[in-house]
Amino acid sequence: MTSTPNGDPASYFASLAFDRRLAEYDVRGSVAWARALGAAGVLSTDEVEQVTKGLAQISGELEEGRFPFRPELEDIHFNVESRLTELIGPLGGKLHTGRSRNDQVALDVRLFVKDAIDGVIEGLAAYRRALVDQAAGHIGTLMPGYTHLQRAQPILLAHHLLAHEEAAVRDAARFRDALVRVDVMPLGSAALAGTAYPIDREALARDLGFAEGPSRNSIDAVSDRDFIVEFEAAAALAMVHLSRLAEEVVVWSSEEFGFVEVSTDYASGSSIMPQKRNPDAAELVRGKTGRVHGHLVAMLTTLKALPLAYNRDLQEDKEGLFDTVDTLHLSLGVTAGMVRGLTFRVGRMLDASTDGFLLATELADYLAKKGAPFREAHGAVRKLVDDAISAERTLSDLTIDDYQRVSPLFEPDVLEITVESAVEARGVPGGTSRNRVRGAVEEARTRLNLE
Ligand code: ARG
Repeated sequence: MTSTPNGDPASYFASLAFDRRLAEYDVRGSVAWARALGAAGVLSTDEVEQVTKGLAQISGELEEGRFPFRPELEDIHFNVESRLTELIGPLGGKLHTGRSRNDQVALDVRLFVKDAIDGVIEGLAAYRRALVDQAAGHIGTLMPGYTHLQRAQPILLAHHLLAHEEAAVRDAARFRDALVRVDVMPLGSAALAGTAYPIDREALARDLGFAEGPSRNSIDAVSDRDFIVEFEAAAALAMVHLSRLAEEVVVWSSEEFGFVEVSTDYASGSSIMPQKRNPDAAELVRGKTGRVHGHLVAMLTTLKALPLAYNRDLQEDKEGLFDTVDTLHLSLGVTAGMVRGLTFRVGRMLDASTDGFLLATELADYLAKKGAPFREAHGAVRKLVDDAISAERTLSDLTIDDYQRVSPLFEPDVLEITVESAVEARGVPGGTSRNRVRGAVEEARTRLNLE
């Protein structure tokens, strides 16, 4: 790295290296602004035509990757304007009438986030479909449900997978809700006080497709980056959810659990230990969650002591936002693929649910249904379990005599309690019985199809 004694202010100020990603939005905003200037009588019909033709050419250059970016021009707004002037002459300079880079950049970023939200919601839907499809194939698969990572009660694997889907449903709802506050059109706010030209801002908002219309306060419109914070917060939480699933894939694919195999595309071998298949995709999703959280904290910290209205600090909003969008998008895609490629070892899962003490709650419920106060029933079963553990036995080894020793309320039908019957007993809405879970899979599918 070369160092210059006085630093290099121009390149320090520059944002082109990253805000070039906003180019198409900058052009779209400029086309609409040219039309608005035309309607306001600032540009003639002929001028509007020339400007929009020039912008169309720029748009083509961008699409084909031959737009001549000039790093010395600081940012994307100057680049587009200067190229326009090259193409159509001094008229290009008229486009900036009544507009400031402050409302221009606010517009560009809002347009970008609107598209990003659409993409995230699509990515979430694909991930949810992967979970629901796996669930549909595992309505008959029994496994231990966990609390404190201790085997707790038998559940259906499908029920567990649909729990992850619920989190993703909330994520999608959060992004949709955030969109309402992104969907506000800031152009016409100019530097901070509002433009001095008779711009029809309602028409401009319609032209640019902003459902919530123009912003109400010009000072707020150029200062507000709440919509970025909200997007990043929703992304941070969505990554938490992916990371929690990823953590389970890591743990479940270990030899200790042996509940699942990750397909080879989503795993890697070790360069030294031939027996290994490492769950890399899951680990990376878990790992990348950290930086998405970092971007949220960075944005909040950038904003926290900023006076109104625009300050150059706000230029720092972009890199974290772009990385958040990319990381979430990629993580959703990889997680969806990884989920589709999971092979569950249903025999191992069944063994894990039958060979321990997962039916203890069921036994306590049995006594409670026979009239024992639940606390007493709990105590009796606690003793049953403790005795079995000291004798190195599990519940399935116990005889009716063992049961009756801890409570006379136990009758021979207690031996008919199984993991299946325990699951079937939980037929409340939201419970893990087969019928409920089958219904939940259908509901999840319908929900996805209605979106
Ligand atoms: N590159 C700037 C940003 O991203 C654009 C707005 C600059 N406005 C200004 N008054 N310097 O925030």
